[in-house]
Amino acid sequence: MANDIEYDRYDRIRPIRWTGAALELLDQRKLPFAVEYLTAATSDEVAGAIHALAVRGAPAIGIAAAWGAVLAARDIDAGDGAAALAKLEPALQRLNAARPTAVNLAWALARMRRALAGAGGDWRDVLEREAQAIATEDLAANRRMGEMGAALIAPGSGVLTHCNTGSLATAGFGTALGVIRAGVAQGRIGKVFADETRPWMQGSRLTVWELQQDGIDATLIADAAASHLMKSGQVDWVVVGADRICANGDTANKIGTYQLAISARHHGKKFMVVAPSSTVDMDTPSGDLIEIEERDPSELLGVSGSRTVADGIQAWNPVFDVTPAALIDAIVTEKGIVEHPDAERMKAIFGA
Ligand code: MRU
Repeated sequence: MANDIEYDRYDRIRPIRWTGAALELLDQRKLPFAVEYLTAATSDEVAGAIHALAVRGAPAIGIAAAWGAVLAARDIDAGDGAAALAKLEPALQRLNAARPTAVNLAWALARMRRALAGAGGDWRDVLEREAQAIATEDLAANRRMGEMGAALIAPGSGVLTHCNTGSLATAGFGTALGVIRAGVAQGRIGKVFADETRPWMQGSRLTVWELQQDGIDATLIADAAASHLMKSGQVDWVVVGADRICANGDTANKIGTYQLAISARHHGKKFMVVAPSSTVDMDTPSGDLIEIEERDPSELLGVSGSRTVADGIQAWNPVFDVTPAALIDAIVTEKGIVEHPDAERMKAIFGA
């Protein structure tokens, strides 16, 4: 079993590019049929791109928001970081409001605020270096988690993943998809299944495309086929990412994750959450307190712009759910693995 992962082969997609003057975002609304970058030249354009899902995935929206703060700084004049921070605050708040559930967004902006607060006359450089550090650290965390998570998986296993947690959702390599990349590279994972992830279809539009770029075979299933797949014996692990992990281990992730965890437990399959420590929110005691984003019901009323539902039908579109810690076998972060998470085990790694 090879332990070295050829990152050049498995890590080629970059959803966020900083040009020095603007932010280029791989427009995920157009995938898989067009690989096109849109240019965001202002912080409000970055906030708009986050809200519209041109850039998406918890770590990626944090990184994009950090660069949004750098862009916002272009419009202001200030002698030091503290003065700049006061002037930047409205733009930072608009970035923060772009999406509510993934804590990485608020985490990245809080980090930018802290860097700025201590900066002197070179505050613009400080801000830019901090955004770059957030991106660089995310990539390093993903590679580390890939190896740590893959080590939990017995050779020859089958895995099912949900949503898109890959390079497209991060600085690169991915969280749950990083574990899958590492597990395939090491021969631990023999079969990969990805579900469609309705209604936005991150699984069918993004995940299977990403894996195809790497030459990794993946089989697409309907969301509704997941329990049947588990019963068939073809998967041993369900491996997912996270948008917010609370102090007790409760985990918010893309809608449908909760039912996968219930089904995994029923069928005796293991359930792994993979996320960097920037997704851990020790200030939120339990999942009941997480704000769940609800998006436009129109996302449910049609497919690819064609309406599939009779006029006058109402729809409810929560786009995240919370998986209770008790249904999770392992939370893999770059700081360590929390097996059978609870408040005490989370605290042992992440502090108060
Ligand atoms: O609505 P999205 O596409 O931003 O939701 C993304 C997810 O739920 C991912 O699973 C999560 O952000 C982890 S990405 C590494």
